[in-house]
Amino acid sequence: MSPLVDLRRLPRHVAIIMDGNGRWAQCQGSDRTIGHQEGSRAVRRIVRASRRVGIEALTLFAFSEQNWHRPPAEVVALMELLRDFLISERDELLENGIRLRAVGRVEKLPPRVREILDPLVAETAHLDGMTLTLALSYGGREEILDATRALARRACAGELDVDAIDEAQLEGALPSLAVGRVDLLVRTGGEQRISNFLLWGAAYAELHFTNALWPDFDEAELYAAIAAYQGRERRFGRVQGATTETTAPVLPSLAHEAAGE
Ligand code: FPP
Repeated sequence: MSPLVDLRRLPRHVAIIMDGNGRWAQCQGSDRTIGHQEGSRAVRRIVRASRRVGIEALTLFAFSEQNWHRPPAEVVALMELLRDFLISERDELLENGIRLRAVGRVEKLPPRVREILDPLVAETAHLDGMTLTLALSYGGREEILDATRALARRACAGELDVDAIDEAQLEGALPSLAVGRVDLLVRTGGEQRISNFLLWGAAYAELHFTNALWPDFDEAELYAAIAAYQGRERRFGRVQGATTETTAPVLPSLAHEAAGE
C-alpha cells in the first residue's frame, strides 16, 4: 500500500463516479461494451481494495437515471454485466462481510437483474465489514424529489408536522444517506462534474478528479485519492479545521425569532 495513506484517518464514506469506459474502449479500437467489461473488472478490484484498506462505505455510480437514454444495445449490455457481476461476486461479498445495497429507482431494472440483486441484498443485510452501495437508475435530484414526495404524503396523512421537518428527517428519507454523508467523492475520466450524483450527501465531500479512465483505475489510484483527501483541511463552512459537520449555531437574536418571540 502507498506509504502516503494514513490508516487512522480514512474517509468513512467514499463515493465514485466511474467514468471513461467508452473512451478506454475507443483507445483500444474496441466496442464500448468491451470498455464496460473492463470497467466491471475495475469494480471488483476497487471493492476488494476498499475492504482491505478499511473503508466503511463505498458507493458506486453504476447506472444513472439518464443512462436509460443510451442506445438500447448498450443498456442491455450494462444490465447483463451487472447481473454477471452480482452472480460472480456473491461468495466474495459473503466471505468478506460486505453488505450490498442498491439505491435509485431500482424498480425500473429488468427482472433478470432484480431476481439476483434483491436476494443478495437480503442475504448480506446483516454483514458489517463494509457497505457497498450500487447506485442504479439513480439520480440525485430524483432521490430528493422522491424523498420530498414521501414526506409530503406523510404530512398529508397527518403523520408528520411540516414545521418539524429538519435535515435529519429529510436525510432519513434519502436512501443514499443510510450510510452517512460522503467524505470523499472521486470522479475518473478527466471530467470535473458531479453529474447528479449524491447531491445532498456530497454537500461537503472532498472532491478528487483523476484523468485515469475507469478501467485503468487501480489500487494505487485509490490510495492516491485517499492521500489527497488526507491532505485537505475540512472546515465545513467554519474557519478552523473541523472533524465533523455540525448544525450551524443559531445567533441569539435569531433564536428569539425562531422561538416566535
Ligand atoms: C461511464 O463510462 C460508466 C458507466 C455509464 C457505467 C459504469 C459501469 C461499469 C463500471 C461496469 C458495470 C458495473 C458494475 C457494477 C458491474 P462511459 O461509458 O460514460 O465512458 P465515456 O465517458 O468514456 O464514454
